[in-house]
Amino acid sequence: MKTDLPQSFRRLEYRPPVYTFDQVDLDIALDPSRTIVKSRIEVLPGKSFEPGAPLVLVGQELEFVSLRINGQAHRHFELTPESLAIHSLPNEGKDKFIVEIISICVPNKNTSLMGLYVSNGNFFTQCEAEGFRKITYFLDRPDVMARYRVTLQAREEECPVLLSNGNFLKQEKLPNGWHSATWEDPFPKPSYLFALVAGKLACIEETITTSSGAKKLLQIWVEPHDLNKTRHAMDSLIASIHWDEKRFGLELDLERFMIVAVSDFNMGAMENKGLNIFNTKFVLAQAETATDADFANIESVVAHEYFHNWTGNRVTCQDWFQLSLKEGLTVFRDQEFSADQMGSESGRAVKRIEDVRLLRQLQFPEDAGPMAHPIRPDEYQEINNFYTVTVYEKGSEVVRMYQTLLGREGFRKGMDLYFQRHDGQAVTCDDFLAAMADANNKDLSQFQRWYSQAGTPRVKVEEVYDPANGQYHLTLTQSCASTPGQKDKEPFHIPLKTRLLTAKNDQPEQLLELTQPTQSWTFQNVTERPVLSINRNFSAPIQLEFEQSEADLLTQFSVDDDPFNRWEAGQRIAMQMILGDRLPDAQLINSYRSLLLDPNLDPAFKELALTLPAETYLYEQCSSVDPQKIFMSRRAFRKELAKQLQLEWAALYQQNQTPGPFKSDAQSSGKRALKNLALSMLLEADPKIWAPMAVNQYQVADNMTDRYAALAALVIHGAKGAEECLRDFFSRFANDALVIDKWFALQSSRPPVDGKESTLLEVKRLREHPAFKLNNPNRARSVIHAFCANNPASFHQPDGSGYAFWVESVLALDPINPQVAARLARALDRWRLFAQPYQGQMKAALEQVAACQTLSPDVREVVGKALAD
Ligand code: PHE
Ligand code: ZN
Repeated sequence: MKTDLPQSFRRLEYRPPVYTFDQVDLDIALDPSRTIVKSRIEVLPGKSFEPGAPLVLVGQELEFVSLRINGQAHRHFELTPESLAIHSLPNEGKDKFIVEIISICVPNKNTSLMGLYVSNGNFFTQCEAEGFRKITYFLDRPDVMARYRVTLQAREEECPVLLSNGNFLKQEKLPNGWHSATWEDPFPKPSYLFALVAGKLACIEETITTSSGAKKLLQIWVEPHDLNKTRHAMDSLIASIHWDEKRFGLELDLERFMIVAVSDFNMGAMENKGLNIFNTKFVLAQAETATDADFANIESVVAHEYFHNWTGNRVTCQDWFQLSLKEGLTVFRDQEFSADQMGSESGRAVKRIEDVRLLRQLQFPEDAGPMAHPIRPDEYQEINNFYTVTVYEKGSEVVRMYQTLLGREGFRKGMDLYFQRHDGQAVTCDDFLAAMADANNKDLSQFQRWYSQAGTPRVKVEEVYDPANGQYHLTLTQSCASTPGQKDKEPFHIPLKTRLLTAKNDQPEQLLELTQPTQSWTFQNVTERPVLSINRNFSAPIQLEFEQSEADLLTQFSVDDDPFNRWEAGQRIAMQMILGDRLPDAQLINSYRSLLLDPNLDPAFKELALTLPAETYLYEQCSSVDPQKIFMSRRAFRKELAKQLQLEWAALYQQNQTPGPFKSDAQSSGKRALKNLALSMLLEADPKIWAPMAVNQYQVADNMTDRYAALAALVIHGAKGAEECLRDFFSRFANDALVIDKWFALQSSRPPVDGKESTLLEVKRLREHPAFKLNNPNRARSVIHAFCANNPASFHQPDGSGYAFWVESVLALDPINPQVAARLARALDRWRLFAQPYQGQMKAALEQVAACQTLSPDVREVVGKALAD
């Protein structure tokens, strides 16, 4: 009999806390090998309180020292490796009482990067979701919101800077070269938003005035040598603060707001109250070392974390099943912010296309695979595995649909009511929906299914044009495939922006609300056969089943006034041709040509329109994937496109130069994107002729976008000069960890090139490189994840060598950092979709990992679900 079945947590088993906390005082003496944490907690009965109930705190990897209650040593407790249960409470726990606990943790042994850890000699914390329990015994759950006062002590020489949440109160000298700082956060918060930072750091700062006239101090803290790379993050922060005031009437509520950068971090960044902690990747930028994509990512992540101050911190989640309440909403807010920053309607469309491309490349496969879950999951084994593209990106699409259904104003009314009702509370997705419904008097009961049902809905389109009566009949049928634990689905409420495209341009855009399994609409006064433009701007996160003729798609590709659907038509033509192993025909080449030459279109849009669908998105359109075949057809298609338009590419390369001092605005970065696509296409067409131009661009570039793009084009096409440039790149940037990550990632994600050795051999060499570090998540990802997740054609080898490397890597990473290992473990999720011999080899690889007796719960859940039937 198996007794070690993994433990599952279920949404419907939620119970409010038995006890709750009011004031929490923490006194933390920082020492890398022995940090002493003293807590003093005011405890009150909670919503599920019953007299005599024990107070059960959680703790992990802590050394327990002592416990006092109301000032007296207390002996009635039970200690397990994961908990501290306190019995015999004063007056059966009915009145407020004080718990004081002393415990010890070991930050310099902490490689999981959850709880308190050391990075480059400095101290950092990461508490979301359940890391606070690695710092002290606590009610480590988001529905327990307390006020914190924190005193940090450390040796002044090693830790001159001591930061925590909220407002700074005082600093003191202590004996033996120690000092202390005290911070107080006036807003009650759950433990996952706690943070401390200590060490040798420097900051840039600005004072701004917010809408109410209050002055606020903004700081960005980094290692001193990185100070010159903080300007862009600061500008992004200021822009975010202003945007949230303008768009949602939400003001910064603290006297100061700090961002700190750390190079060892599992995720992108973390919204701790008043003290956001960021992966360096999403803070540090200057033109010489960061690409345009890096600049854009920094802007959006800074905004995202700042926006959490209201959507996440002031109003937080009742339990972790509600994660999308804060994440989906905050992603939606950061997407809208970035779109507004683009400064034009076509810029907004570019941002929308990029977001949808990400959703379809990453979230659609997740929704169709063994880890599929609703944006509000019903069950998990390890919550860390549920920081997913579904919770984040599909969650954002669901929030976007409210705005589509209610209009911008209606959406704002809903947001206002949400804050009016729930400020200072820990709430649920249902509460958010209720606020939207009540503020707008709209019945959203069917809309609720977007929270409870997993899987990407499919909508089938059937059309009949009746010229005699000038009528157009549209029938839509929705369905949704089974997902784990959910066999049958109820119909969704799907908002579809729709327009009939006619030469007369006489049909208005409409919003169709598909709520039935099958529904029909009749359009009147349609005097010519229209071309249907449906799900405009991707108004719903669905898959369309629409047998549109290539002629209609081409029309749409050249005339649709919805830029998203214009792009989409081009993607669909390319997809059909690639999957049919066809090359672009003369007609399609002509359409591409006129699009490229159209002076009214943004360069950024042209770049997107000429970029082919990703291999992993193509996989999802097949019932049995042959990854080598898809790679070859896609590559052949691309080569033909490159060759047929060689003259145009050469002209575009010249026309889209950005001379003069570097500018990071949308217009300039769009030009660079198109120019660098042109360069890559020229090398695709003929590496012999064009390689010297790429080498030249590599050498003379004054910014990372151009230097990296030239290097990538050389490497990807196996062109002459690639090796020299790679060597130069490494020595030029040897001291800049983020740039060295790029150097590793580029080589690990190089697709197969004729006549070159396999990328896997290269990856194995890179793993032995002196600059490679398995313990640093960014570096590990730049080699291992880059290969296993971003290089499908090299990873999926018929001999299974890629999978063997995956097994080795998951097992090597897991004891160091389960979260990073579990992400990597997901690379084999879609094994059932593959043809033989791939499928069998992937399954065997999963079984090999599953056979390991000492797996973390994180990896155990991922491989367990992948193999479950
Ligand atoms: N809450 C963070 C964000 O989305 C992500 C995160 C989760 C960071 C867990 C660290 C740990 O902004
Ligand atoms: Zn977030």
